[in-house]
Amino acid sequence: MSSTAPVKPASGAVNITTAVANPDLKSSGLEGLVAGKTAIASVLQDKLIYRGYTIEDLAEHATFEEVAFLLLVGHKPSADELAKFKAELVAERDLHPLITEVIQKTAKLPNAVPMDVLRTAVSVAGHLDADCQDTSEAANLRKAKRLTAKIPTMIGHMQNVIDGKPIIAPDKMLGHAANLLWMMTGKKPTPDQAHVMDVSLILYAEHDFNASTFTGRVISSTMSDLHGAVTGAIAALKGPLHGGANEEAMEMLKEIGTLENVVPFMKKAFETKRKLMGFGHRVYKNGDHRAPILHKLGRSMAEKIGPSALKWFEIGEKVQQIMLDEKKIWTNVDFPCGMTYFAMGIPVPQYTPIFVASRITGWSAHVIEQQANNRLIRPIAEYAGPGIRAW
Ligand code: SDX
Repeated sequence: MSSTAPVKPASGAVNITTAVANPDLKSSGLEGLVAGKTAIASVLQDKLIYRGYTIEDLAEHATFEEVAFLLLVGHKPSADELAKFKAELVAERDLHPLITEVIQKTAKLPNAVPMDVLRTAVSVAGHLDADCQDTSEAANLRKAKRLTAKIPTMIGHMQNVIDGKPIIAPDKMLGHAANLLWMMTGKKPTPDQAHVMDVSLILYAEHDFNASTFTGRVISSTMSDLHGAVTGAIAALKGPLHGGANEEAMEMLKEIGTLENVVPFMKKAFETKRKLMGFGHRVYKNGDHRAPILHKLGRSMAEKIGPSALKWFEIGEKVQQIMLDEKKIWTNVDFPCGMTYFAMGIPVPQYTPIFVASRITGWSAHVIEQQANNRLIRPIAEYAGPGIRAW
């Protein structure tokens, strides 16, 4: 019997005749299914909002620290609240020596990629957090702030180890985005670079029930701990169909290499039905609201840097136009991210970890929201296996 054939119940057996394979459901990837309520963000064709504020408004007028507070606490911070929040983040940037040691030991393992090293470092941070097993709202918020503060340091230290350079300590005088760039590169970023990084962190911070956030919500719905939920979310984000696409998008542009090679590359990509990274989206069918914001900022930064950086935007724009003309498929946020981070000199394997440095705020907000009013997430499956048979 084929595994998709209708199930016939054996006499006297429990009736499972309803378990007939539904090909639509099987291949749906739960597309369009409402899986719960959230007050954190709304992802719609015509707008993206975080707690009532549009992404365009936030990208233009807010800082990442303000957006992090908005997502985690639920409202726009007052000046006093923001000053306290920023001071808390700065005070929590340093890593326990065990985390640094784990990063030093894992970052150079032959099979380790930065997303895996970061996943392990976050998991170890859970062991060291006094609130680890406490799932109260107050404890979740404390843990979320600590992870938001420490993840950039984990990324920075990891890059220092990969580069074979001494570990660079966080700089208390620098804001969140500028400090991340400083720790990774050992160079104080220009205000322009710090601003572009800051906006990219705002854009990446939250996106309702995407795969990694939903992973985190499922884990936290068992009343497991926040570090565990984040560790699982990092694993989900790593995949090239999700956050890993920002690295793959840049690798693809490097593979194309020159403006002249775009047309032959695209012709072959269409012939071989190759998936182009940084294109398409499960929800957005007319473009991702975040992509043009980051593209514009990244491009203007690249123009100031010069032809070596601008070249990647010119190649990317040609790819984008052909994809739109031929397939009507738009870029998602990961496409301009690849070019923008490359122009800043950030090593490609750190692009998805930087996504984590931002999305930690959205993930944590969802853990807090889930556990504040929890019910176990446990859907049912449609059985598509063989009918009842004797062993
Ligand atoms: C993120 O969900 C979120 O919110 C995620 C995110 C967030 O902030 O959390 O926005 C971040 O993950 C962005 C997405 C990054 N991933 C990529 O860039 C990988 C490349 N994109 C695709 O593989 C794809 O578009 C997905 C995975 C993003 C969405 O896949 P769907 O909804 O399952 O769509 P599909 O694969 O069924 O595609 C429908 C059609 C297919 O053609 P047909 O078979 O119908 O002829 O569109 C084609 C696909 O082949 N298509 C693409 C394509 N994306 C869709 N063809 C070529 N290249 C692509 N990138």
